[in-house]
Amino acid sequence: MPDFVAECGMRGMPAEPDGRLDGPAFHRNHNAIWSAIGGFLSRQSGDVLELGSGTGQHSTAFARRSPHLTWWPSDIYHSHLASIEAWRRHTGLANLRAPQRIDLADPHWTWTADARAGGTLTAMLCINVLHISPWYVSQNLIAGAGRTLRDGGRLFVYGPFMRDGAHTAPSNAAFDATLRAENPDWGVRDLRDLNERAEMAGLTPADITAMPANNLVLAFTRADRQN
Ligand SMILES: C[S@@+](CC[C@H](N)C(=O)[O-])C[C@H]1O[C@@H](n2cnc3c(N)ncnc32)[C@H](O)[C@@H]1O
Repeated sequence: MPDFVAECGMRGMPAEPDGRLDGPAFHRNHNAIWSAIGGFLSRQSGDVLELGSGTGQHSTAFARRSPHLTWWPSDIYHSHLASIEAWRRHTGLANLRAPQRIDLADPHWTWTADARAGGTLTAMLCINVLHISPWYVSQNLIAGAGRTLRDGGRLFVYGPFMRDGAHTAPSNAAFDATLRAENPDWGVRDLRDLNERAEMAGLTPADITAMPANNLVLAFTRADRQN
């Protein structure tokens, strides 16, 4: 394991010679996240797209745990894309595809499938992105899930969230204030607002799984299109 860290925000960070970055949060959260998403994913086949993959460690770890699925990591920053690719080469996982540059600031963002994948997704995963980006990134993520998930497919989102206008813990309120001081467009999102956008996109309201440190995994399911 590399002996450096990347906070995986907007700043450049040192890398291993091959470009691999190591995010400290990954080590704290990946087992808990898998416990929330692995039950669904273990029963599925097809393709999983991760948005805002950062170092690439989540896609790499989860691809290792689900060889029956094909994982597609993505991000916007060159150093992150390089890290994701370096982890892919380092592990040699056959079911982990090369990273794509997908910018959720673009309302028309698309995923580039290969011929086998066909174009619809079994699942999407977005970890610790929505609070370090403007609200329209959340809107575009959910709208894109409505376009791209197959019927019954799921969008999983991990992070801190408010519920009905209230923070779930004082530490989340303090974190939210820090984020907004750094960038007024950032901040902890409210589950109520996400559910509103989900309904507009043809997704169910979120199923919620509580995570350590006052985080949540939200699971939105793509409703059948013929209904
Ligand atoms: C806090 S890091 C989390 C990274 C990774 N998911 C993790 O949990 O370790 C936030 C990530 O969101 C990405 N990001 C920020 N704005 C984005 C956008 N508009 N579209 C896609 N990704 C974005 C950043 O490049 C960064 O990798």
